[in-house]
Amino acid sequence: MSNEEEEKILLESIDSCRLLVKERSRLLGRSLTYHVTTFGCQMNAKDSEKLSGILEAAGFEREEDELAADFVLYNTCTIRDNANQKFFGHLGSIGAVKKKNPDMMIGVCGCLSQERSAREKITQSYPFVDLIFGTHNLFDFPQLLYKLLTRQVTKGKGHLISEFWDDTDRIVENIPSRRNYKFKSGVNIMFGCNNFCSYCIVPYVRGREKSRASSDIIDEIKRLADDGVKEVMLLGQNVNSYGRGLSEDINFARLLEKVEEVSGISRIRFMTSHPKDLSDDLIDVMAASKKICRHIHLPLQSGSSRILESMNRQYTKESYLSLAAKIRERIPGIALTTDIIVGYPGETDADVDDTIDVIEKVQFDGAFTFIYSERTGTRAASMPDKVSAKEAARNFERVLAKVQETSQKRAKLIEGMTGDVLVEDINRQDSSLVTGRLSNNLNVHFPGDASLIGQIVRVHLSECRGFYYIGERA
Ligand code: 5AD
Ligand code: SF4
Repeated sequence: MSNEEEEKILLESIDSCRLLVKERSRLLGRSLTYHVTTFGCQMNAKDSEKLSGILEAAGFEREEDELAADFVLYNTCTIRDNANQKFFGHLGSIGAVKKKNPDMMIGVCGCLSQERSAREKITQSYPFVDLIFGTHNLFDFPQLLYKLLTRQVTKGKGHLISEFWDDTDRIVENIPSRRNYKFKSGVNIMFGCNNFCSYCIVPYVRGREKSRASSDIIDEIKRLADDGVKEVMLLGQNVNSYGRGLSEDINFARLLEKVEEVSGISRIRFMTSHPKDLSDDLIDVMAASKKICRHIHLPLQSGSSRILESMNRQYTKESYLSLAAKIRERIPGIALTTDIIVGYPGETDADVDDTIDVIEKVQFDGAFTFIYSERTGTRAASMPDKVSAKEAARNFERVLAKVQETSQKRAKLIEGMTGDVLVEDINRQDSSLVTGRLSNNLNVHFPGDASLIGQIVRVHLSECRGFYYIGERA
C-alpha cells in the first residue's frame, strides 16, 4: 500500500470513529474525553501531539485530569529501566481507578510496548488494558480506536486489541496534530536509528533510519509558520545523517538552509546530533545563519576512547575534543550540551577520569548524566565486567559535580549582557514573572504577563542564579 493510500485509510477511519463517538456522547449526555500521558523524549512528545490530534478529530475532548478521562492513552519510553519501572507503577495505580469505572478505556503505545517482553508483562499482569500498539503503526491508531469503540458498543469486553509491526519503511504525512504550544513546534525530519550503539535499545524499538522528503518537511514548516509558530525543533535520533537513502540530493546542512528561508520562522533548533556525522559544512551553515539557535546537543557518552569503541560510537576522545573546539571557535557564544553514561560494562575509575577531563576541556554548558541501564537484546547486555551499583553511584557523583561546575561557569559568562528571549510561559512559582529561553537554551525569568507569551523580547540578563537568569526587559 502506498503512503497516500495509508493516509486515506487513516482519514476514513477517523470519520468512522467520529460517528461512534457522537453516538456514545448522545447516550451519555456529555462529550467523551481523552487524556494522553507521555513518558520520555521529544520524539514521544511529538507523537503524543499526533495521537491527541487524531482523538480530537474523532470527536474526543481533552481532559486534563488523567483519572477522569474516558480514554487514557500511555505513550511509553523504555530507554532505561527506571523509565519502565515508572510506567508500570503508574499503570498499576490506574488499574484501581478502572475497577471503579469499568467503562474507562486504557491504551498503551510507544517504545516500551514495542518490546515483546513488556507486551507479555502487560497482557499477563495488567489485564485491564484494552489496547496496545507499537511505534511503527502509529498511523494505524484510528483503525484500532474504531475496533475499540465498536467493542464498547457491543459490550464485547475482555478482549485485548493489539497490533504490532516489526519495522516499517512508511512515513505517513498529514496526520492530524494537536500542538502543545502555539508558538513552537517539533518537526520530525527522520525516524529510527541505524547506529546500534551497544547500550541502546532505540534501534530495536524505533527501527531503521528513514528520512522524510525535504518538500514534505518544508511544507509542514510553512503551515506551522502560517499558524503562528516562531520556533521549530527539527527532530531525529541522528539529524546529521539526514537525507541518506532519499532519492533527492540533500543533507542536513542543505535542509537547514531551506528551513532558514521559511518566512515567519525566527528560530531553528535541532536534536540530536551524533558527533561522528557532524560536518564542517553544517558548522559553516550554522555560523552564517541568523535563525539557527546557538546550541548544539552533542552526546559524548564517555570520554574514554576504549569505552567509546566498545560502545560503537565511532569517534575517540581526541576527535570529540577537536570537534568541540572547532565548533566553539567558529560559532562564538554557542552552548554545547551533552549526554553522559556512567557505569557502562568494564568502565574503570581511569575511564571516568577521561570523561571528567573532556568535561573540563569542553566546558559543557549542560549535561544529562545517566547511570548505565542494561537493556535486554543489546550488545552491552551480554558484556562481562559489570560495574557495581555502588561504584557507578560514586562515579556518577564525580561526573555530576564536574558538569555542574562547568555549566555554572558557562552560564555566568553572559551576566550583564542582553539577549533575545522567546517567552514560553508564566513562571510557575511567581506569577508576576514570565519564563523563556535564550538562543543558547538558557532559561530566563523576568517581570511580564501572559501577553508576552510567544513573543521574542530583548532582555537584560541581570543576575545569574546558577543555571538560569533573572532579567528585566531591555
Ligand atoms: N543506559 C543509560 N543511559 C542510556 N542512554 C541510552 N541508552 C542508555 C542506557 N542503556 C542515554 C544516552 C542517550 C540518552 C538519550 O540516553 O546518553 O544519549
Ligand atoms: Fe541510541 Fe546511539 Fe541511536 Fe542515539 S545514536 S538512538 S544512543 S543507538
